[in-house]
Amino acid sequence: MIVTTKELFAAAYGNYAVGAYNINNLEQAMGLFRGNLDSRAPFIIQISKGARSYTDKRMLEGIIRAADEVFPESIFAVHLDHGDYEAAMDCIESGFYSSVMIDASAEPLAENIRITREIVEAAHAKGIVVEAELGQLGGVEEHVQVEEKNAHLTDPAEALEFVEGSGCDSLAVAIGTSHGAYKFSGDQALRLDVLAQIQERLPGFPLVMHGSSSVPAEEVKRINEAGGTLGGTKGVDEDDFAKAVPLGVTKVNIDTDGRLVWTRVHREFFRDKPEKFDLRDPGKVFMAEYAKFIAHKNEKLGSAGRLDEVREMLAP
Ligand code: G3H
Ligand code: 13P
Ligand code: ZN
Repeated sequence: MIVTTKELFAAAYGNYAVGAYNINNLEQAMGLFRGNLDSRAPFIIQISKGARSYTDKRMLEGIIRAADEVFPESIFAVHLDHGDYEAAMDCIESGFYSSVMIDASAEPLAENIRITREIVEAAHAKGIVVEAELGQLGGVEEHVQVEEKNAHLTDPAEALEFVEGSGCDSLAVAIGTSHGAYKFSGDQALRLDVLAQIQERLPGFPLVMHGSSSVPAEEVKRINEAGGTLGGTKGVDEDDFAKAVPLGVTKVNIDTDGRLVWTRVHREFFRDKPEKFDLRDPGKVFMAEYAKFIAHKNEKLGSAGRLDEVREMLAP
């Protein structure tokens, strides 16, 4: 069942965070739905602009529509990740997405508010909810490499003005994380103190943590032992999710860790079985491993085991 992120956040705020997972293809979709059902968790499917253009946006949307039928117990939101104005409007008009992100965080405050407000008005007219971003994460984001020097934390003093001015339904905050496998380079660290100051200005308002992959050392080791060359990787400590939840984080974005699962499975598969060439063989291993990975993340986020209470909350 497709719901809005707003409905999911109403149940989650202060209690747990909902996992928001980026997907690009059929195998990820299967693992995602299985893993969330295995762990009895509500979840958010995130589709980036890159994912929409990887094949054709209708292919990915079709896979999600089919998964909704194949896994009728599932409760999830369909969310555009890091949309620009055109992508957000396209998703609002498509009628398929229940939630969109407008990321105008590279713009000055007033312009970010203006663009976000326009998207909010169009989205709310159709019952779609909007995530916006204030502050800027470092790392790779939608093909744009945000230089470390341009990344900046969310200014708590601007948070209330931004939310009131834009009318957004949730706020992505920059609190020291960055996108990709190389977080916390230089002097970066997770800034729970900044998060606490934002929550003070916006009590009860859902906050979103991007760049939340943990980039597990064991996963990187296995990839490198199977021929990979990942070096100097660093992610968010999974145990910090439990510290962020009481400070208002209700959505946690995870993409990179899923890519690492894919890379490890395929590198190990072809290293160990060089005679194989049926794509379904590693595909089956990946779907099972991705499902396990999702269930593990949901345990850490506290969303595991919440599916039935969310269903009851949504019942008329
Ligand atoms: O924040 C970015 C997400 O990890 C999506 O990445 O734009 O390469 O699909 P992508
Ligand atoms: P990671 O690169 O840490 O997985 O972050 C994903 C993200 O923020 C998607 O919007
Ligand atoms: Zn992001």
